[in-house]
Amino acid sequence: MELIKVTTEVVPHVALVEINRPKEMNALNIQVITELVGALKEMNSDDRVRVVVLTGNEQAFAAGADIKQMAEKSEAEMTASDEFRIWDEITRFPKPLIAAVSGYALGGGSELAMMCDFIVAADNATFGQPEVKIGTIPGAGATQRLTHAVGKSRAMELMLTGRFFKAQEAFEAGMVARVFPTSGFMEEVIKLASEIAARPPIAVQLAKRAILDAYEMPLAKGLMEERKKFYSTFSTLDQKEGMRAFLEKRKPNFTGQ
Ligand code: CAA
Repeated sequence: MELIKVTTEVVPHVALVEINRPKEMNALNIQVITELVGALKEMNSDDRVRVVVLTGNEQAFAAGADIKQMAEKSEAEMTASDEFRIWDEITRFPKPLIAAVSGYALGGGSELAMMCDFIVAADNATFGQPEVKIGTIPGAGATQRLTHAVGKSRAMELMLTGRFFKAQEAFEAGMVARVFPTSGFMEEVIKLASEIAARPPIAVQLAKRAILDAYEMPLAKGLMEERKKFYSTFSTLDQKEGMRAFLEKRKPNFTGQ
């Protein structure tokens, strides 16, 4: 069975990637993450793809790392295999990557969503970092990314209790960008993805990179990087087209160059 289903052009320039392990609530074993990383690599070199939507099914985006696969491992085995290293590849994907979360996004599932550029949630979505309830801690980024997203106090309360929280709370805390009704959810997500896909792709990817710099660089360096990227857009045809179209009061025709 394919663990990752890819539809390259669900609408023009938008690829849909579905995690497909429904019986196990889309628990993320090594095979799922390896297939996902492989699929992203292919989409990176596919010029038709400008935006990728990562989703699960209505019941679960993903209920975490696979507990069966890791339960009996020793510290030495966990350290030697360093399974989360391959997850880092997801954060290096240069095109916009949207997490569309319906149902459960728990543990590594919520962390996978947070590795994406932003999260859009169905109103039935349930998030949580329940690792402390099973004797461990988040290992795929939540202590850092959730804390950046919602602030120290809320992050502490959520991760020290391990309690579940719903889409609306995640939205109000700043973890989720948009919440849509569960019925018609994917249509709304695809519409949003299409809006981004209609923008000039070089500028979109530069903006993404510059925003991520805000997490990874001191402010002064991030500002310098932003300025360099801003100037670099003036070497693109799409910048000329975008600004000329504005001045000529017409719609721009972007070519991705
Ligand atoms: N790993 C492996 N299998 C899982 C799983 C997981 N994370 N989550 C669910 N499953 C499996 C269940 O074992 C069950 O399988 P069987 O039918 O073979 O028993 C099947 O999926 C359906 O699950 P439930 O019967 O439990 O369904 P439910 O509706 O009663 O509950 C749930 C759903 C609330 C998601 C519950 O399954 C649950 O709490 N899952 C575990 C959540 C969790 O602790 N995640 C963190 C994992 S650790 C981690 O992710 C570390 C990290 O930082 C990367």
